[in-house]
Amino acid sequence: MTVTIVGSQLGDEGKGRVVDLYGDGADVIVRYQGGDNAGHTVVEGGTEYKLSLIPSGVIRGKIGVLGNGCVVNPATLFDEIDELKERGLDPDVRVSERAHVILPYHRVLDGIEEDAKEEDDLSAGTTGRGIGPTYEDKAGRRGVRIGDLLDPEVLRARLEYVVPQKRALAEDVFGIETGEEFDIDALYEQYREYGRRIEEEDMAVNGGSFLADRIDDGDEIMMEGAQGTSLDIDHGSYPYVTSSNPTTGGACTGTGLPPTAVGQGEVIGIVKAYLSRVGTGPMPTELGGVEGQTAGYTGGDPDSDEEQMATYIRDEGGEYGTVTGRPRRVGWLDIPMLRHAARVNGFTGLAVNHVDVLAGLDEVTVGHSYTLDGEELLTMPATTEKWGECEANFRTFDGWDPVDWSAVESWEDLPENCRTYLEYISDELGADIYCVGMGPDREDTLVLDSPY
Ligand code: GDP
Ligand code: IMO
Ligand code: MG
Repeated sequence: MTVTIVGSQLGDEGKGRVVDLYGDGADVIVRYQGGDNAGHTVVEGGTEYKLSLIPSGVIRGKIGVLGNGCVVNPATLFDEIDELKERGLDPDVRVSERAHVILPYHRVLDGIEEDAKEEDDLSAGTTGRGIGPTYEDKAGRRGVRIGDLLDPEVLRARLEYVVPQKRALAEDVFGIETGEEFDIDALYEQYREYGRRIEEEDMAVNGGSFLADRIDDGDEIMMEGAQGTSLDIDHGSYPYVTSSNPTTGGACTGTGLPPTAVGQGEVIGIVKAYLSRVGTGPMPTELGGVEGQTAGYTGGDPDSDEEQMATYIRDEGGEYGTVTGRPRRVGWLDIPMLRHAARVNGFTGLAVNHVDVLAGLDEVTVGHSYTLDGEELLTMPATTEKWGECEANFRTFDGWDPVDWSAVESWEDLPENCRTYLEYISDELGADIYCVGMGPDREDTLVLDSPY
């Protein structure tokens, strides 16, 4: 059986902790899209692991696979493996030969294109990991794949074709001086070395058939989505999106498993009990704003109720950049966004995280619907420009006080108002709640049902 874990909002919903929770019942955990733009956190008995590329299931000693839909930066891959080894784990990671490789010039181009777009307010505030430029090369049929790193002649031929184009783009179109990142010989040496390590450690697999064989042998497969539905290149808030498909369809194309294998399994939507966004783009339920990310925001009145609420949620939820310390954008739960996610992904169950973050508020608000051009909308419009014009229609729920979350062992143990809030979410999305996150640790989870 397969279980697919999908972010239902804008990333950072707590996918990593749910993969870890249910990963116990899986044998293989496969990432199907994205690359080291992700940041998935697993906390086990107070020990925190942050993974940007390798599947979160390796923390439980499961086999981790990077599917063909991923873009792989080998430097990150080996850094993460080595770091986990230093921490006493022995990660077993396989990489699909069909997955594309992020090269140093992709990261350079990611940065300069973001700068170029800034003038027109089109920059997405990317993670700068070269994700977009690598997927561009994949679609342009000029990418380098993991399999190419294992074949010296193919690797050299690929680089000789593509690198001069990239150099010309950087120098002639964007007017920057290029260095080693655009040097064929240097890239060849470095990436052949990565290829040798992949070979020595027997990491390369034909992803689709590897997974199909495991299923034939009776293994349970879990698909770990990165990012979230509204960051999906097709179903998200284009162009303020990532360059892959985090939605359930991506779990088929990005692993080589057929839609029937994914569809016969479970699809769990991960929901953060409020909303956060890293980067630009509309957010109709936003509280306050963050300069440089919230369109037109130049700093609010810190004493206003709205700014104070934003600061409260940000502080309680730790919504500050892990590297930069910059505040993240926060807002109330956006139900039209979630209805859209439920439809696109076909959730069979939900995991709702961060209910502890909202505890202590007198009232908890949600954006129940939007008003656009005088009409009520229950789901997101298809264009981002129209989405940006939507005004949220809010509903409020009575709040709940913090409790000893570690003592919550059944649905009835949750505060009543928290249950009402969760029932509302479940009703609107048409899916049962499988688990509730009441803190970051594996132990801080109320498990109501299991997909395996
Ligand atoms: P992911 O990208 O979806 O895996 O989520 P991240 O790991 O980027 O962000 C979620 C953050 O919230 C991490 O720091 C988690 O440890 C933390 N977290 C996850 N679930 C909960 C929860 O239920 N309550 C609280 N307070 N924190 C949580
Ligand atoms: P996880 O898996 C939150 C956002 C970036 C930017 C846009 C495009 O941890 O939930 P990219 O580098 O992918 O081209 O950036 O997408 N973004 C994320 N936001 N969580 C993530 O991953 C993200 N991955 C990308 O901030 O707005
Ligand atoms: Mg994250």
